[in-house]
Amino acid sequence: MINEEWDKMTAPEYMQFTRKWIGACHNVLKDNGSIYISCTYHNLGEVMIVLRQFDFKINNVIVWQKTNAMPNMTKRVFTHSTEFVVWAVKGKKWIFNYKELKQINPETQKDGSLKQMRDVWTMPLVQGKERLRGKDGKALHPTQKPEEMLKRIIIASSNKEDLVLDPFLGSGTTAVVAKRLDRNWIGIEKNEKYVEVADRRLHEE
Ligand SMILES: C[S@@+](CC[C@H](N)C(=O)[O-])C[C@H]1O[C@@H](n2cnc3c(N)ncnc32)[C@H](O)[C@@H]1O
Repeated sequence: MINEEWDKMTAPEYMQFTRKWIGACHNVLKDNGSIYISCTYHNLGEVMIVLRQFDFKINNVIVWQKTNAMPNMTKRVFTHSTEFVVWAVKGKKWIFNYKELKQINPETQKDGSLKQMRDVWTMPLVQGKERLRGKDGKALHPTQKPEEMLKRIIIASSNKEDLVLDPFLGSGTTAVVAKRLDRNWIGIEKNEKYVEVADRRLHEE
């Protein structure tokens, strides 16, 4: 829920939209393919219900614990510091690159040895050099995702040369990380301003 044009639907409109795009993803996803949906507490319920309606199997609800969450302006609720990534699969023989995930896991055992990657990912909102900014210093996209998050997702559920689709590409994070990891990618974005941002980012990459 940010004050952007794409985030201003009524609850029934949102349910219909969710059904439409998850259904479209279900149609194009290969058997045994994975879908990852980034959510907040506002839409986690709808997303999980619709995934089940399409017979997806939900494997994890990953909690993104944000280390630099926004301050609590109203002081009437607990300060929100989490988002969610739902991982669901179509079929039973999904890819899970368990060993590679262990190798890239910044968390280690007490003795320094590799640790299994858990379903709580602690990382900051995009900041510093990674944050795309215009000449005026303003962020070029309101919800740019951390590259580290996409790295984990793409490594977990695909292999080199596989195809990654992001139907809400935004600033292009999925495409940039997919390219780095030698995956093919397709991005869809309806706002031309953000298409230009993603395009420039990919050329610089
Ligand atoms: C949450 S943002 C994605 C941010 C992206 N992960 C990143 O790292 O920059 C969602 C994006 O979807 C786009 N969008 C919304 N509705 C869309 C639609 N129906 N088709 C294509 N893109 C859409 C918005 O313009 C917005 O850039």
